[in-house]
Amino acid sequence: MRTQLYIDGKWAEPVDGGSIEVINPATEEAFATLAIGNEKDADLAVKAARRAFDKDGWPQTTGKQRAVYLRRIATLIRERLEDIAKLEVLDNGKPLPEARWDIGDAAGCFDYYADLAEQLDDSNNQELAVSDDRFRCKVRREPLGVVGAIIPWNYPLLMSAWKVAPALAAGCTVVLKPAEITSLTAVELAAIAQQAELPAGVLNIVTGSGSRAGQAIITHPQVDKLAFTGSGRIGSHIMAEAAKDIKRVSLELGGKSPMVIFEDADIEAAVEWIMFGIFWNQGQVCSATSRVLVQRPIYDKLLERLAAETRKITIGNGMDEGVLLGPLVSRAQHETVQAAVERAREEGATVLVGGGRPASFDKGYYFEPTVITDMSLDSTVWNEEIFGPVVCVRPFDTEEEAVEVANDSRFGLAAAVMTKDQPRADRVSNALRAGIVWVNCSQPTFTEAPWGGYKQSGLGRELGKWGLENYLEIKQVTSFVSSDPWGWYIK
Ligand code: NAI
Ligand code: MG
Repeated sequence: MRTQLYIDGKWAEPVDGGSIEVINPATEEAFATLAIGNEKDADLAVKAARRAFDKDGWPQTTGKQRAVYLRRIATLIRERLEDIAKLEVLDNGKPLPEARWDIGDAAGCFDYYADLAEQLDDSNNQELAVSDDRFRCKVRREPLGVVGAIIPWNYPLLMSAWKVAPALAAGCTVVLKPAEITSLTAVELAAIAQQAELPAGVLNIVTGSGSRAGQAIITHPQVDKLAFTGSGRIGSHIMAEAAKDIKRVSLELGGKSPMVIFEDADIEAAVEWIMFGIFWNQGQVCSATSRVLVQRPIYDKLLERLAAETRKITIGNGMDEGVLLGPLVSRAQHETVQAAVERAREEGATVLVGGGRPASFDKGYYFEPTVITDMSLDSTVWNEEIFGPVVCVRPFDTEEEAVEVANDSRFGLAAAVMTKDQPRADRVSNALRAGIVWVNCSQPTFTEAPWGGYKQSGLGRELGKWGLENYLEIKQVTSFVSSDPWGWYIK
């Protein structure tokens, strides 16, 4: 398999002919060749998106018309769900049942924004009462232009959907750059867009590196908005670049999301939600449950159960039946996670379970599910995002202390609280400084609900109606409707 770029409704070789091998993280073997575009390709893609926006009439289509394309895309994704899910496993390493869930959810995202596109027709052009009745004011929401979407490698197709679906629903045109280590399902999305007869230039996909294709998109003067998911470092860089010509920007960055477990919580349920929160997708999740706070009376019992269940997890190739933990996405990510665990050891923490490559694998970027305890509050392992299957567990005594420790972070993406006491659940969820709070669960994500972070976890919200607003400008149209003259200069 050898991919191409998708620009202006056509498949194209990169201008300078670049390519890289695509590695299966479970086997470390190359199984495909990915086209690598650079500045020249990014420029062609932006120009196509610009023309589709300015000249070809995509922003002037009705929401109902755009919904037809979005629903076609959703249907085509569902028809090919099994093949796309398998491709995601080969590329990213995640277990196949997780990949099936991702792809189904990506299809659902296109359907959801099809509905919102239709609703936009009805809710637009609303009259607004103003303080002078000689004027009539209406408010329109209009597509904001050409979107540069830059996405990471942890949920390749799903993150494409989270950006492309609302952007197209709004009437924007898009240049999408997937992460270079997991671009294959984005290329499939291009094939689906073509099959859905999406007009040329409305969706363009440039595979390539962040430093060249990515950098060219985020600095391109004809791009109006940047939508990014990825690391805080690149998020900050993108915001700085966007500042130069006041591009709109939305950022979904990482986290170090706490879970606070009170002594009255169901211990078995808490263990299940911790494991789901930190081992799903090998912990390569922006909202991963990476800091667990347990009230002291149940600390030992919970830790013992967590350790026992963690040791039982089946590790293996994501294609194999019954596997719950696949390899990490890349050699680089494996090195990063290993280094974080070594650093924790140096800082005096206890690695209670796991901590390295499982002994039974000599190939593949496998990393054991890992439980760390006894770390100090100022340690790196407690404060920095690891983005791997590594959970830190600490005891606490009072509710006040738990909230303070949970909030003592530069991140604020997600948080969770486990308790049977409803008033306490309400108090704590109100006190947690995070964009998403889960009560007696962790990680359930709904297309209808706002997704995004406080503090350094990001800017703006994706999903739900908030996700659509990301791609709309607001215009007031004010008319003079009086038969009396204005009468300021000419009486
Ligand atoms: P990254 O932030 O470097 O990459 C994300 C995307 O940005 C990729 O498509 C990349 O090509 C692109 N990019 C990089 N430099 C760019 C530039 N100058 N201009 C435009 N685009 C650029 O993330 P990376 O290095 O893959 O992962 C590093 C860490 O980031 C992870 O260990 C994790 O902590 C965090 N991360 C967070 C994610 C989240 O969901 N919030 C997802 C992936 C990674
Ligand atoms: Mg790969």
